[in-house]
Amino acid sequence: MVETGKFIEEAVAEIRDEVGDEHAIIALSGGVDSSVAAALAYKAIGDQLTPVYVDTGLMRKGETAQIRETFAYMSSLEVVEAEDRFLDALSGVTDPEEKRAVIGEQFIREFEREAKETDADYLVQGTIYPDRIESEGGIKSHHNVGGLPDVVDFEGIVEPVRDLYKDEVRDVARALGLEDIVAERMPFPGPGLAVRVVGEVTREKAQVVREACHVVEEELEEYDPWQAFAAVVGKGTGVKGDNRVHGWIVAVRSVESRDGMTARAQELDWETLQRIQSRITGQNENVARVVYDVTHKPPATIEYE
Ligand code: XMP
Repeated sequence: MVETGKFIEEAVAEIRDEVGDEHAIIALSGGVDSSVAAALAYKAIGDQLTPVYVDTGLMRKGETAQIRETFAYMSSLEVVEAEDRFLDALSGVTDPEEKRAVIGEQFIREFEREAKETDADYLVQGTIYPDRIESEGGIKSHHNVGGLPDVVDFEGIVEPVRDLYKDEVRDVARALGLEDIVAERMPFPGPGLAVRVVGEVTREKAQVVREACHVVEEELEEYDPWQAFAAVVGKGTGVKGDNRVHGWIVAVRSVESRDGMTARAQELDWETLQRIQSRITGQNENVARVVYDVTHKPPATIEYE
């Protein structure tokens, strides 16, 4: 276990030493890793750091407001409203990997522009130890390792939490006073709600899934799942009043896991499931039905795409 006080002191000194009087930039995702890296870097170099948060339109409900609040003390925070650009870029894209690629490219474009505008010399990243191991071993490419540094010519890359495991990052987050909502959050995929919409992402589907995910997170908090969320998986027939309607099918998923590599679907009680169903169908008249996913990983993945 990391000794948080000592770790923070040393990390701050190291960042100060490395960046000196120059300028640094970090992409904030709202996740705990980049939040901790940003908080450490800000402690070290203050407004020489520009934290950039890109609102892709595929973030959780209230995420942008939450970021503005949590990082309000960083006067150099840049919030980029990029929803239209992301949704335009995703228009007509149905293949899951192509969606990821489009989102990754658009993100680089947004960040590159900010990096050029701020004339940043250093890139700060929230890479943690397991990310490095997985990337080095070629298991999967991590969106926060590589990619960006190839596009913008940085003098150096600073990774203050590179030797920490996730639970240690959470300890440091708490020691830094980052709110529980950041420190304790369940994992959220880099491509955001796009992997919780089967097929093309549209503004309407993003809105349906964002509201439904919020309901699921709220209702299942007491079950303490590894991840719990909703996904728009297709269309089906329902009845609203006297009419048959062709509405969205929303799947609810709640899993227990240790590391995301395997997972078990959680057993939920009927009342909870019914409450979720009634809130989701109640908040949007275009949702025709709600189903609960009982599939473990394997054979399913956790996300839908
Ligand atoms: P799957 O769906 O592959 O997810 O069982 C395993 C874990 O990884 C997250 N996930 C992603 N995270 N970029 C990410 O940063 C991605 O493209 C991505 N796809 C899945 C997922 O939320 C789960 O925690």
